[in-house]
Amino acid sequence: MESFEYQAPTKVIFGKNAEEKIGAEVKNLGMKKALLVYGGGSVIKSGLMERVEKSLEGYEIEYVEFGGVKPNPTVAHAKEGIKLAVKENIDIVIGVGGGSTIDTAKAIAHGTANKDVDLWDIWSKKVPVTKSLPVGAVLTIPAAGSEMSDSAVLTNEELGKKSGINTPFNRCKFAIMNPELAFTLPKYQLFAGITDIMMHTMERYFIPGISCQLTDELAEGLLRTVISNAKILMENQENYDAMAEIMWAGSLSHNNLMELGRGKDFSVHKFGHALSAKYDVTHGASLSAVWGAWANELYMGAADRFARFARKVWGIEESDEVRAAQEGIKKTVEFFSLIGMPTSISGLGLNPSKEEIGELALLATANGTMKLSRIRPLDTDDAKKIFEMAR
Ligand code: NZQ
Ligand code: ZN
Repeated sequence: MESFEYQAPTKVIFGKNAEEKIGAEVKNLGMKKALLVYGGGSVIKSGLMERVEKSLEGYEIEYVEFGGVKPNPTVAHAKEGIKLAVKENIDIVIGVGGGSTIDTAKAIAHGTANKDVDLWDIWSKKVPVTKSLPVGAVLTIPAAGSEMSDSAVLTNEELGKKSGINTPFNRCKFAIMNPELAFTLPKYQLFAGITDIMMHTMERYFIPGISCQLTDELAEGLLRTVISNAKILMENQENYDAMAEIMWAGSLSHNNLMELGRGKDFSVHKFGHALSAKYDVTHGASLSAVWGAWANELYMGAADRFARFARKVWGIEESDEVRAAQEGIKKTVEFFSLIGMPTSISGLGLNPSKEEIGELALLATANGTMKLSRIRPLDTDDAKKIFEMAR
């Protein structure tokens, strides 16, 4: 087991009607004026925003709304939010929605507390975050795990780049999670979210040569839980207990618990972010589209990990390591298909040219400055090969 430090400081308020507690929470933090960040309007339509505002009013917390966050949120839009937050003297930023909204809330908090710094200088890591405003989340989709994670991801449309920053200032002070809020999700978003949840644990699992029994068992249990409850939600999206299991798994999958003693890889995310930056595809779908190709290219470098995954997650009984590993990959890809996720780039409705595949590979490897994966370092040519295989 490798040495580690672990802190997951977000207060989780979980369960039916949890959003009604937001006023008390903001009051406890000593905050007076909130920026309520939201997306394309699902939270207005569902009545959630009204309930959030009523709870804030009950504790005499002022608020200002800032909507219009798109999936694959942009730096330019976050900058608009920063202007508003500065003008309105906001002291807490609350994301009401999914990962895109919560990440935008985080960016606005950093930008507002550092109003003389260009947000892209923070995002491109030229300027470290040393102060920020507190951030809170009301989660409406189990997926990205932003509600407890130390990361936030934005797209710079001018540069065609999608990237994230990791900092303790990205940790939400509180995360309000009512599984019922996810009942209204379009099926595609729900299962893209479920794919992302699985991927956050899998990106920390396929690293060879380090023994971490407890972390492994937690990861395998989380994946089995997500798979079995996803099947229940396919039949009935309003099954509260199944949605609750998935929602909590989403937070634990990405609050660093699943990497303790081993660390993380996240190379599949680099491939996915390249696809999303270039073609604006849904995050979870960008991951399922490349995972099979990624796994088939790399599993021989970590056959024992892939075989263990096959046995513990999918119940495969094959005793030969390589054959078990192959069966586990097949089962995983079949599962993505079963839940309606693309398992190839053409499944995303895309048909990139050879030149475009080259551009994607450069995006994934930051113009060849970065090698991907802890199984085997992948350069731009390897990335091209994986994108070709995923085609
Ligand atoms: O915008 P609205 O109208 O709210 O609609 C959203 C959006 O269209 C809709 N939606 C969300 N909750 C709903 C709902 N529709 C009906 N009922 C509800 N209850 O779902 C769509 C997708 O929302 P989005 O916020 O984009 O989803 P998700 O949570 O999957 O977030 C994806 C973003 O998070 C980033 C991704 O790269 C992507 O940009 N990630 C953030 C991470 C982090 N901060 O730790 C880690 C992840 O790996 C990921 O990279
Ligand atoms: Zn993700």
